[in-house]
Amino acid sequence: MGARDRSDAVEVVRASADLREIVSDYLPLKKSSGSKYRALCPFHTEKTPSFYVDADKQLFYCFGCGAGGDVFKFLMLYEKMEFPEALRTLAGRYNIALPAPGGAGARQSSERQKVLAANQSALGYFREQYGKPGGDRARKYLAGRGITRETADRFQIGYAPEGWSGLKGHLAKSVPEDQAVLAGLLAKKEETGRTYDRFRERVIFPILNLAAETIGFGGRVIGEGEPKYLNSPETAAFSKGENLYGILFAREAMRKEGHAVLVEGYMDVIALHQAGVEQAVGTLGTGFTAGHVRLLKRYTDRVVVNFDPDAAGRAATRRSLEVLLENGFEVQVVALPPGKDPDLYVREHGVEGYRERLKAAAPCIEYLAREAAGRIDLAAPKGKVEALDAVLPFLAQIDNPVRRAGWVENLATVFGIEDRLVLQSLQDAVRQRRKALGAAGAAAAVAGGARLVSEAEARLLRSVMDSEIVRETLLGELVEDEDLERCRIAEIVKGIRRLVEKGEKVTYPRVGSEISDDARDLLTRIAALPHPPATLEEGRGCLKALRATRFQRQMGEIQKRLEAGGGPAETDELLRRKVHLKRKIEALRDAPA
Ligand code: UTP
Ligand code: MN
Repeated sequence: MGARDRSDAVEVVRASADLREIVSDYLPLKKSSGSKYRALCPFHTEKTPSFYVDADKQLFYCFGCGAGGDVFKFLMLYEKMEFPEALRTLAGRYNIALPAPGGAGARQSSERQKVLAANQSALGYFREQYGKPGGDRARKYLAGRGITRETADRFQIGYAPEGWSGLKGHLAKSVPEDQAVLAGLLAKKEETGRTYDRFRERVIFPILNLAAETIGFGGRVIGEGEPKYLNSPETAAFSKGENLYGILFAREAMRKEGHAVLVEGYMDVIALHQAGVEQAVGTLGTGFTAGHVRLLKRYTDRVVVNFDPDAAGRAATRRSLEVLLENGFEVQVVALPPGKDPDLYVREHGVEGYRERLKAAAPCIEYLAREAAGRIDLAAPKGKVEALDAVLPFLAQIDNPVRRAGWVENLATVFGIEDRLVLQSLQDAVRQRRKALGAAGAAAAVAGGARLVSEAEARLLRSVMDSEIVRETLLGELVEDEDLERCRIAEIVKGIRRLVEKGEKVTYPRVGSEISDDARDLLTRIAALPHPPATLEEGRGCLKALRATRFQRQMGEIQKRLEAGGGPAETDELLRRKVHLKRKIEALRDAPA
């Protein structure tokens, strides 16, 4: 199935996706009543299930924590995806072709699609070559490193044979040449403009994202050579700083184990997964970024950093600790013996040995203290200051003052400094951090403050949503600007009216797609409330109640202004309005329900 344009596509996906089916991928749903299913809420900890999926309304809602929404929202919350990613994931699952978005994003996205298509074709080629007799170079190499055939298949490892045009010939059948260049699969000779295979005589590691798209490749020389790894360039589909190697295969384990193991290399990830440490993901030798944080935050808030024990790895560790702490992660560090990366270590000591290391991972501050003590001469007073300065900024990031103070004695002992001096320096560091955070914090505190919706509003909305007859009648009677003045459901009602005017079906998800995120949240909440079958009487009653509330409010305002006193002309005018309003209130009271 295809779709004409983007918003069409969203609706096609929405209509095709089955929330119950999607949620069932993640949680065991039990039948509750009617079209409702329930489970323990994945968004907060609880012992009795208060998370409901309504298969008819295609909405989920948790009475415990208030999380709720449609199938997109579920993926956005559970997988911490942005909307476009949730859309892509669902479209892929239900075989719906997504058109490139129009406007500013269009060029970039079609470029992304082009890169992905080229990569997909290249992956087929690399895999095929790997299986062929000529691929035994790669197979032997991996076998020599202890990688089983099964693991190689899981990670879809491939082989780029030597020669300049093997891949080029393969791609020529289906991918335009400039597209292959764009994807970094073919390189172009400046002088002649001729293109040739960029990956030659290398073991190929495809890089998959969470949607299982092949966004790039890493190619390792077989044996010695430079560069050791050749990677896809940054493209519209691939950015090192936004992706973690192995994330697709690690997400369940990260959730289950409650932490991620952060390593540097392709082989580290693969060897650990093969050994059963499936919560390992790789930074691919690049700095740890805010993009990586966003990815990991979806699954866990504890990270064990296990970079290589060389100078580069130590520097990378420090930087990643900074980013991780800043983002509220609990962080520990495994420091392996010199010369051992996780791949080597797990091969030599087995998974038991490696798990021991994980279990004994040092809390971030302890690691930093030891690391500083290891490289700084603590005999000199200058050294002590330097060592303290290397750790305190990290310590100051721990928000809990008791936990923070707990480290003081430890640092004092390791560095040979008096407790009192460490504490004083820590207090300075904390003050400095507060000053830096001050402005940002104040701004964040002001946000929020949602007003609750009244009972009458909620019931009115339900009546309009749940019955077509009530909807048609009440939409005719309802004067939005007046009746829904200061009502939070006003935006939702406008959305409903738009659909009715377009002659479209009014369903919860469809209305949800017409309105803002806030309004959609509200709609979901209201949808989850128990509600008797909608009748016109009930709807009219609510409308009356809303009107009565509004008149009372206006009356109150007039009264206040009268009491405040004003010129005679103003007082006259206010009295006139008061009489008028009183009549309206009486009329409302006497009108049949
Ligand atoms: P390492 O040099 O630690 O490689 O680089 P490794 O993973 O241990 O490699 P093996 O075990 O010898 O096969 C760590 C990561 O840095 C990136 C790769 O992602 C690598 O896995 N890197 C390294 C490159 O991109 N290019 C290079 O030339 C070297
Ligand atoms: Mn290695």
